[in-house]
Amino acid sequence: MLRTLLLLLGFLLTASLAVAEESQEAKGTHGVVATVHPIASRIALDILKDGGNAIDAAVGAGLALGVVDGFNSGIGGGCFLLIHKADGETVALDGRETAPAAAHRDMFLRDGVADPDLSRKGPLAVGVPGALAAYEWVLGHHGSKSIAEVIRPSAKVAREGFTLGADYVRRLKSAEAKLREFPGAAAIFLNDGHALEVGDQLVQKDLAATYDGIAQHGIDHFYKGPIAQAVARWMKERGGLLTESDFASYAPIPRVPIRTTYRGYEILGFPPPSSGGVHVAQILNILETFDITRLSAADRTHVIAEAMKLAFADRTHWLGDPGFAKVPRGLIDKAYAVKLAGKISLEKASPVPSHGLPPKADEEWFGKHTTHFCVADGQGNWVACTQTVNTTYGSGIVVPGTGVVLNNEMDDFAAQPGKPNAFGLLGADANAVAPGKRPLSSMSPTIVLQDGRPVFSVGAAGGPTIITQALQAVVRRLDFKRPLAECLGQARIHHQWQPDRLLVEESLDADIQRALRAKGHQLRPSKGIGVSQAMARHPDGSLGAQSDPRIEGSALGY
Ligand code: DON
Repeated sequence: MLRTLLLLLGFLLTASLAVAEESQEAKGTHGVVATVHPIASRIALDILKDGGNAIDAAVGAGLALGVVDGFNSGIGGGCFLLIHKADGETVALDGRETAPAAAHRDMFLRDGVADPDLSRKGPLAVGVPGALAAYEWVLGHHGSKSIAEVIRPSAKVAREGFTLGADYVRRLKSAEAKLREFPGAAAIFLNDGHALEVGDQLVQKDLAATYDGIAQHGIDHFYKGPIAQAVARWMKERGGLLTESDFASYAPIPRVPIRTTYRGYEILGFPPPSSGGVHVAQILNILETFDITRLSAADRTHVIAEAMKLAFADRTHWLGDPGFAKVPRGLIDKAYAVKLAGKISLEKASPVPSHGLPPKADEEWFGKHTTHFCVADGQGNWVACTQTVNTTYGSGIVVPGTGVVLNNEMDDFAAQPGKPNAFGLLGADANAVAPGKRPLSSMSPTIVLQDGRPVFSVGAAGGPTIITQALQAVVRRLDFKRPLAECLGQARIHHQWQPDRLLVEESLDADIQRALRAKGHQLRPSKGIGVSQAMARHPDGSLGAQSDPRIEGSALGY
């Protein structure tokens, strides 16, 4: 009898642990984490429980995502880390890829026309990876653990394997043809030329060895050792541009975060070469001129869509790496927002022929000088990190022996004015290719402060929809005080100026969709727009974390 009871208790405990492991919503007082994968969240939580701070845990999560979610991000890609520390210090670390030294403006043109195949897959698509150097930098400056300590749990997962879920296999299948072209990648992710299936184990021995090498020898193993050498050799044989010296000279850049206010809150965002912080701020500035909680749901959705359109027209023209292009600070000027808001009619969708002209007086350079996850600890340190290899499995390249998926971030440059990139985004001179330049990004890690302390944080994956997802979550939280699950779960919209159409999730209320059509919006219904993760400090002081209800993500806390 006792044995049966114990067995039953054991079963119930295991079952409840399993449920906790897969929860998309978590609470805690000592720490919380939200990522797109239960293994990454678990590794981050264990680091917190082991005395690590939010920075240690975030790096642990980032490295784990490179193993269990490698189609989205990894050490072959880049990241932006936005940190608000318990002592009030704010850090925006730019671990974005750079164009190789031999890159040039017209490198993706063939017979005068941009060839998207060149910027999206294969050797020319790859920028110098930045994520690992950024991890090392934040650990050294703000963490309490070494890279060796936080990388080991992920090395173990890579070595021993993990079970593939439906989200993973869906993405793998979508990239099957690309991966088939690169034997190094095919050997890991395909089985006889076909994607692994749900329930299969994915073992990544080479990636485990690379992680072990980093644990033993530090990040030089990657940037100045065997990994850089193997990649450079492979590139040279295939017409790629990346050299050992590109790897050796990579450095992450600490930047000054974008700061704006919204209805009494302070909003921290990521500055160029992300467009995220600028345009989240710009759209919020426009919305602040409307009493949006009093508008009908249809009018409010319309105003938000119009504000998105105006901001993306500016993005197309003005935004790029601030080391190369003048990005006007006036874009986030409140007076400029009032001017833009004046162009919005409540009755109808207005044409936006071109970008605006932000005030000149303020023409400074910002900060001269895809997956999102978030972690907070009990001391009050908050980390919001978005990282990516760009499109699914990046360039498709895994140089044999490294296990590292190389990004295709070069496609985030404007290969040619007027030619859209993989996300349909246009760009101008500000975002043309140049040696050592960082391609413009939409990644938008965002932290909201009230009286100087973080109360909300959000970020997303999904190309340009990253900006509009973060924006909508902020509005739902700050204007409508919605619970985290609703901030992320409610139907989203997205407008990026060109093409002139409004993406709406199919779940958006049918009456609102009808009203938007009547105002002249070209609606494009979509099953789902992007994937966001968020965190909040509740009024009772406890922390909450939420992973996007659209996927099999995981939030944990204790
Ligand atoms: O940095 C950027 O904006 C893009 N490379 C992000 C890519 C992304 O979100 C892919 N997901 N759809």
